[in-house]
Amino acid sequence: MRLEGRRPGALQRSGRWPGAAWYVTYQRRCFAALNPALTGTRSLFIAARILIARRLGPMKIGVIGLGYVGLPLAIAFAESGHDVVGLDADPRRVQSLRSGESYVEDISSERLAAAAERVEASGDYADLSGCDAVLICVPTPLTSAREPDLTYLVDAATSIAAVLEKGQLVVLESTTYPGTTRERLLPILEESGLAVGSDFHLAFSPERIDPGRTDYTIRTTPKIVGGLTDDCAARAVAVYGEICDEVVTVLGPEAAELAKLLENIFRSVNIALVNELAMLCHRLEIDVWEVVDAAATKPFGFMRFDPGPGMGGHCLPVDPFYLAFKAREQDFYTEFIELAGKVNQNQPRFCVDRIGEALNDVRKAVNGSKIMLLGVSYKPGVGDTRESPALKIARLARERGAEVSYHDPHVPELGAIGLSSIDLGEGLKSCDLACVVTAHPEIDYEQVVAEAPLVLDFRGVTRGIEATNLVRL
Ligand SMILES: NC(=O)c1ccc[n+]([C@@H]2O[C@H](COP(=O)([O-])OP(=O)(O)OC[C@H]3O[C@@H](n4cnc5c(N)ncnc54)[C@H](O)[C@@H]3O)[C@@H](O)[C@H]2O)c1
Repeated sequence: MRLEGRRPGALQRSGRWPGAAWYVTYQRRCFAALNPALTGTRSLFIAARILIARRLGPMKIGVIGLGYVGLPLAIAFAESGHDVVGLDADPRRVQSLRSGESYVEDISSERLAAAAERVEASGDYADLSGCDAVLICVPTPLTSAREPDLTYLVDAATSIAAVLEKGQLVVLESTTYPGTTRERLLPILEESGLAVGSDFHLAFSPERIDPGRTDYTIRTTPKIVGGLTDDCAARAVAVYGEICDEVVTVLGPEAAELAKLLENIFRSVNIALVNELAMLCHRLEIDVWEVVDAAATKPFGFMRFDPGPGMGGHCLPVDPFYLAFKAREQDFYTEFIELAGKVNQNQPRFCVDRIGEALNDVRKAVNGSKIMLLGVSYKPGVGDTRESPALKIARLARERGAEVSYHDPHVPELGAIGLSSIDLGEGLKSCDLACVVTAHPEIDYEQVVAEAPLVLDFRGVTRGIEATNLVRL
């Protein structure tokens, strides 16, 4: 069951008696947030705890790790009238925020400035003193052996334990395998001498942000919460109810941890499926985009996923392996995950083979050809290049002797391949082949097809354009 209802502020603005409005809204939220699996008495108990946990007046929220996840979260609390202490281990980020400069595209410097009065950027964990809740949003990458790297989380937890105060709620938002909150985070926090459930509260609540997306926001995306105890869950529901219209509870942190992984694995597996289909379609000489477009006309039982040059970003190429690791501990092999990872990781190599074929068709070799990549970030509309397939394509094309350049309105410099973005018009005229790697909406693809000698579209953005110099995945 979901927590629903409007913000108390919205009712107050409608001119009704604010006290009554708050009571009605909040009571509805409390009961709706309860997991249907809970028995009646326990439901009532938790609903009562949520009401008690809800503090009147502004809270002080600590956010650890001010990146793509932490900064928007910090701003959301500030915009809802709460004071925020934002902590980051990177002094450049702290300095940047103090001088009012945002480095996360979803948060404009104007929005940052508007929230500045309530947000204190810091590098000192002692500033968490007096916080009602501390939300952990640090990276959870993979080691070189493709195993979970919890170093950032352990460092953050150790620093929090040193300053943890009675009555504080700690929530882990970083994506991780089931068991992390209970087995890894809790023991470190209890080194403080405080006990979970009585002295402090602990929960897991995965971040579902999708950078660059504007149709769903932190407020309109339901938030999942799994607490170590019922009180922990109630505290977390009360806190997130301040910034989210819906909070969904599950019976413990493990279910919340796994729910987040399921969301990402679902995408990874389906993307792998259409990528494999794209390879087959190439052999069968069938246009994969036409197939996907046609299948997507079914109004039920089908969800559209598009093929492309491979998966990027911090989540999809990484998170499934968190679950695969946990499964191996149980002597269980997650074959869908491994297979999807294999197909998706191979996709840039398939794309470079396609580059070779496209050049071959115009009697050119990859060796010595000028290849321009259009878009190098991992997704449209953002400048994040982490795990971007463009990096692998650039490296593989260079290994085959190509001269690689790129144009990306969101990525002026790309240190990973030692290049800077070049002018679109000049690049198109001087290259042998332009490859659409990221479908940035700012790029005029008709212009691309009109001006480049040869275009290879890995994203299907040129559908509808007919030209002899155009090839699609
Ligand atoms: N980026 C996304 O779209 C997204 C979406 C959902 C979930 N997530 C998950 O959220 C988590 C954070 O991802 P992100 O993209 O925001 O990462 P990020 O790299 O953008 O930001 C993380 C920040 O944490 C800071 N940090 C690292 N260790 C620290 C420490 N000990 N103390 C204080 N600060 C520290 C870093 O300096 C950095 O600024 C990851 O687990 C990720 O999987 C990310």
